[in-house]
Amino acid sequence: MTAEHKIMERVTSGIQGYDEMIKGGYFKNTVNVISGESGTGKTVFGSQFLFHGVQNGEKCLCIVTSESAESLKREMHSSFGWDFVELEKSGLITFVDITDPELRLQKTVDMAPMELIKSFKKLLSRKIDEIKPTRVFIDSIEALFLAIDSHYKLKTLVDDLFGELRTYDITSLITVGTTFEVESIVEYGADSVTRLGRVVSGNNLQRSVYVAKFRGSGTINEIRVLNISDSGIKVLDQSPYTATG
Ligand SMILES: Nc1ncnc2c1ncn2[C@@H]1O[C@H](COP(=O)(O)OP(=O)(O)OP(=O)(O)O)[C@@H](O)[C@H]1O
Ligand SMILES: [Mg+2]
Repeated sequence: MTAEHKIMERVTSGIQGYDEMIKGGYFKNTVNVISGESGTGKTVFGSQFLFHGVQNGEKCLCIVTSESAESLKREMHSSFGWDFVELEKSGLITFVDITDPELRLQKTVDMAPMELIKSFKKLLSRKIDEIKPTRVFIDSIEALFLAIDSHYKLKTLVDDLFGELRTYDITSLITVGTTFEVESIVEYGADSVTRLGRVVSGNNLQRSVYVAKFRGSGTINEIRVLNISDSGIKVLDQSPYTATG
């Protein structure tokens, strides 16, 4: 092992089978994107990343833009028994809902898109400074960027936001939906990209996962089955094209 290999510290995702796909975990201080269509498991994936962090005694921050933080917490509790309401009381995890009127950062058609992104960046830095988390999950990013009509502007804004995240001692996970055409630019800016999807195999619908990019390391170059059950997400050592479920 060279000195270079040693300095790149890994952060485990807590998703069984996935950490093996990425050879041990994400690199520390990187921005990692999870993309996929609606219902492919992005929110569950990120929540499990945080739940694992909390179990390790790490400070975690979850920024929710797509639904209310309350519904996310409720869904994770009913689906997997992860009681984020209780865990929040321990101080190890904090949820920030950008639709919270107190933050005056509502996604409204009246707010200019650039103003929304600027305020979001400020809010993010403020919360990171305040909470000092080691793991951050942003679910999801597309709502912020949907109204930006120029690709050049969008790329600059994404690079700027991701660059800001890399200045902190945190490992970030960011979800992006794939029906809005902003995902390819978001993916370009990320240190790693994991795509979740669905594969039809005969009469069987399988969830799938593959790592599309991972800066600084090799990964397993295979598409695998993503399994969601009462105990959360895990990646099976099987291809969705051959598995019969
Ligand atoms: N206990 C469970 N066992 C099996 N599947 C489950 C369980 N709990 C939730 N699911 C499935 O997980 C999926 C939830 O995925 P999730 O909300 O993470 O999708 P998403 O990619 O975030 O979607 P969106 O883009 O719409 O936010 C649902 O389709 C649901 O059926
Ligand atoms: Mg979601």
